[in-house]
This record gives sequence, structure tokens and C-alpha cells, in this order.
Amino acid sequence: MVSLSDEDIRSRSFDYNIIKRFMPYVMVYKKDVFLGFFFIMLLTGASLLIPLVVKNLIDKSDCLVGASCQDIDQVKNSILIGLLQFLGLAVIVASSIFLSDSIIEKVGENILLDLRKKMFMHLQDVSISFMDKTDVGRLMSRLQGDVAAMQEALQTSVFAIGDFVLICGIITVLLSMNLQLGIMTLLVMPLMVIVRMFWLPRAREAFLDARVKSSAATSYLAENINGIRTIQSFNRQQFNSLVYENKANELLRAQLRASKFSSLMLPTVETLTGISFAIIIIVGASLVINDKITAGVMVAYMLLVQRFFDPIRTISMQYNSMQRAMASGYRIFEVLDIPVTIKDPKKPLDCPLDGSIKFDNVSFAYVEQNYILKDFNLTIENGERIGIVGPTGAGKSTISNLIHRFYDTNKGKVILGGVEIRKLSQEYIGKKVGMVLQDPFLFSGTILDNVKYGNKDVSLNDVEKATKELGMMDFINSLDDGFNTVIGQRGSDLSMGQRQLLSILRALVADTQYLILDEATSSIDSYTEKKIQKALDILLQNRTSITIAHRLATVRKCDKIIVLNAGKVEEIGSHEQLLGNQGLYSNLYNLNYSSFDD
Ligand SMILES: Nc1ncnc2c1ncn2[C@@H]1O[C@H](COP(=O)(O)OP(=O)(O)O)[C@@H](O)[C@H]1O
Ligand SMILES: [Mg+2]
Repeated sequence: MVSLSDEDIRSRSFDYNIIKRFMPYVMVYKKDVFLGFFFIMLLTGASLLIPLVVKNLIDKSDCLVGASCQDIDQVKNSILIGLLQFLGLAVIVASSIFLSDSIIEKVGENILLDLRKKMFMHLQDVSISFMDKTDVGRLMSRLQGDVAAMQEALQTSVFAIGDFVLICGIITVLLSMNLQLGIMTLLVMPLMVIVRMFWLPRAREAFLDARVKSSAATSYLAENINGIRTIQSFNRQQFNSLVYENKANELLRAQLRASKFSSLMLPTVETLTGISFAIIIIVGASLVINDKITAGVMVAYMLLVQRFFDPIRTISMQYNSMQRAMASGYRIFEVLDIPVTIKDPKKPLDCPLDGSIKFDNVSFAYVEQNYILKDFNLTIENGERIGIVGPTGAGKSTISNLIHRFYDTNKGKVILGGVEIRKLSQEYIGKKVGMVLQDPFLFSGTILDNVKYGNKDVSLNDVEKATKELGMMDFINSLDDGFNTVIGQRGSDLSMGQRQLLSILRALVADTQYLILDEATSSIDSYTEKKIQKALDILLQNRTSITIAHRLATVRKCDKIIVLNAGKVEEIGSHEQLLGNQGLYSNLYNLNYSSFDD
């Protein structure tokens, strides 16, 4: 079982496995990535050349100060060339910053989109049984936050590679211009390493701690929002607020500690830069005086050292973002790794189905060993109208879940139209078996979009024909825009009865061979149900159908009624037969109970 816990994110700032798995997503855009790199390298090269151009300028014009120039025109010329070089490099720096930024940004956005799509598609394939055990809200937040963190890290790391190359370049130039001064300037490097060795593990711990506390507080909050009804009904608000306050305080303390480490880095780097500068001025000046180096070289050293510490300054920021990304990457792949337990067969059959349904010795449990159906047998012939009644929790919806293969049986077979459903693709099953549920799902869009949901290719003519057949034209005409009326989220501006009618119309338009109505009319009053019943009679003609209900009247007209109790067929027969049986059904009926749960 995948844990998907939010608190367990002890990841490092570099997790090779995650980077390895992330690479294919980057490689899709390798052309752009290389182009981005090219501009970063161009930027790095130009940044390295600028101090050298400045050095040349100073050295060439040096003689102007002492008025000792032999050829004043040549000096003027080389100053002009130097200035042009400087200008050219400045333009290169500016444009490559812009280009590399925008290219990498674009790649990042694209990868972000790809990852989101991939996660979304995967979550659609993952079996419903997994969703039962997982907080879907939390999964969705991963789709948002974690993917964004990965994108940020990608951008940071591309620039970090540029920084690394820059540092190497600067070291090379520093050492090659004058070995002695170069070594002296770089003397602070070991100091830097020691500071980092001291800083890194502590900072790492502080950052990680902050992340753990943050997700603990967030998930506690999410839990409370999701379970708000329960919380209120148990009067736990006060207590829970206290718990949350504690978690929030802990988070604050952890964040402050982490930011202390971040801000510790800055003055340290500042001090080290200062020391390097002092060395250049003291050692460099004496070298200049002794004519070992030119003044230009000394200025170039100062400019280079300045650039040298820039990347080190930002390192704590990058560290934080890498850390976040690794934790996010870990959780993204955790979602992508959820096994798809219900898989289509390699070569699914798409033969015509004969209209029958058979449960052959089926045993099924949602949770291990807790069997809802045990050695369950049922045969439904082509065109039969079956009603299933029974108390809540009897297993009625489970039967319909199994026919749709939302879950696999633990034992036995479900046979649809003569074919074991594992030999059919889920898409094919969806095309053959229509469903009308208790709370019909309508999405925002027009009425027509909703009605055509199960059969996109149907013509408006056919839709209107079906509407007339159900006697629903009056209802459609009463809407502002007829079929083109836009309905709000989940059809909230329609009454329950209207939504019910629309979903029946949708099923009629989809025109599936089988139809399952699961408590389709249970949330509407008996009066409205009678009216809808007429529409249902039309819908159920010439199809194999299962009507699940706990109201007895709903199934009265069925060819066969199954009384289900605790996963077992208690009685089976037509309404009249069952009344003659003197069993559970007739008892309830004679006592004038309208439903099993009264
Ligand atoms: N997704 C699920 N995970 C675990 N148990 C479930 C799940 N769905 C239903 N059950 C359990 O299976 C039993 C039968 O449920 P169901 O088929 O929905 O009953 P009915 O539709 O007859 O009211 C109930 O005890 C219910 O608690
Ligand atoms: Mg049910």
C-alpha cells in the first residue's frame, strides 16, 4: 500500500533517483534546453571577458596619465576599440540574460504542464479502490504545488550550472594572469569551504524541519476543513483550534530558525569578499609598484572577485529551492507510481454482447476478508427488467460497481453478454452499460453538452426526438435558451427532479444496451417520481436493466425483483410472486412500509 503521507519527506537536496526520473521530462525539450544553455554560456563568457577588456583599457591608457605615450593616435584608437568591445559585451550580457531567462522559463512551463497532464491521466486510470483509501483533495494539491516546485528547481539548477562554470572560469583567469596574486586571492576559498561545511548540515536540518512542520500544519488544516461537519457535531472546535495553534507556533519557530541560517550566509560571504579585496589591494599594490603586474590587472582582479562571490551569495536560496523540489519530486513520482490494478486486457474483445448478465460464484470484499458478497450467483436474461431492493448497506451498489468493473472480484466471474468482463476493455464496458445515479452528475456547460455527454456524435435532431419521447420538450422550452442554456456548477440552478430528468435523457441519448439505475429516483418525492416513472418506462424498453432502489414502489413493475440482504439473495420473483411468498418483501409491503429503511 502506498502511504502518500505528507510528513514523511526526509528527502535530500540531491536525490539522484528523482533527478534520473525527472530527466525524460526535460529531454522532451532538449533543443530548447541546449539553446538556453548556449545563452547561459555566452553570458558566462561575456561576464569573464568584461574585466579583461577593462584591464586592457586601463593598461593602454596608462601612459596618458604620465604623458609618456609614444603614439597618441594609436592609444586613442585602442581606447575606442576597447570601449566598443565593452559596449558589445554589455549588449551580449543583456540579451543573453533575457534570452536564456525566457527560454528556460518556457521549458519550465511546458514541463509543468506535461507533469500535470501525466498525473491527471494516471489518476484517472488508477482504480477506484485506491481512491477509496486516499484523500483526493491532498492528491489534487500535489498537482498544483509540487509540480510548481519542480519547475522552480529546474530553472534554478540550470542557472546554477552557469554559475559553476563562471566560478571555474574566474579561478582559471585569476591564476593565469598572475599565479602569485591568484593564489593569494583564492586563499579565502578553504575558509569558505570550512564555513560551508559547518553551515550546510545545520542549515539542511533547519530547512527540512521547517518543511515538515509546514506540511504537518497544512494537512491538519485540510483535515479539519474536510471533516468540518464531524468536528462541529462533536463540539471539538475549541480543542482542535488549540492543536492547530500549537502546530502553527512550531512552524513559526522552525521557519525563523531556517531563515536565520539563510541570513547567516550573507554577512559571511560579505566578510570573505572583503578579505579578498584587502589581499588584492595590499599584495596587488606592491606588485604594481614593483612593476610585476599592471594597474589594469589589479582592477581586473577586483572585478573578477566581485563576480566570484555573487553565486555563493545566492547559494542558500538555491539550496532551499532544490530541497523543496526533491521533496516535491518524491511525492509526484509517488503518485505516478500508484499501481493501476484494473488493467485492460492486452487484446480486448469487442464482439457483440447478447444482453445477459451473469454473476458466477462471485465473492468480493472492499477491505480484505470483509466480504460484501460471498459465493453470489445471479443470472439476468437479455431484455429482462430486474429490480434490486434491500436495506442500506446490503450490497446493491456493489453489484453495479462490479458490472462496471470499477473493482475486480476476489473470486468468481462477472459475465456480461456471454463474455467475462476482464476480457473487455473498460471503454467498451462504458459504451455498453449506461448508468443513472442518485445524484446525477452535471457539469458546467450547456444543457446540450450535458445530454450528449455519453454520445458526442448524436445529432440535435435525435436529441430532440428523444426529448419528445420523454415528454420533456416543455421543460427544455421553459429554459431561457432551450438546449443552449448554460447551467451552473454541477447543475446547481436546476431542481433535483430536473437534474434527474436530464440524466435520464442523457442515458436515452447514449442508447446503451444495458442500463443500471442506482437509487436514481430516491432523492425526489413520490409524486415527482411517478411523473419520472413514465420517462423511465420508455428508457427501459428493449434493454437489459437493473433498477436499484429501497423504495418498493420503484421496482414494482420489474420482471423480477431481487430482495438483497447482507450480500445474499433473500428472495427472488415478480411482485406478485413475492407477495405470495410471505417473506420479507410481503411483510414490509403489507405493513405499508414504503421502503426498507423505514
Ligand atoms: N468503497 C468502499 N470501501 C469499503 N467499504 C465499502 C465501500 N463501498 C461500500 N462499502 C461497504 O460495503 C457494504 C455494501 O455497500 P453498498 O453496496 O454501497 O450498499 P447499498 O448500495 O446496498 O446501500 C456496506 O457495508 C458498505 O459500508
Ligand atoms: Mg447504494
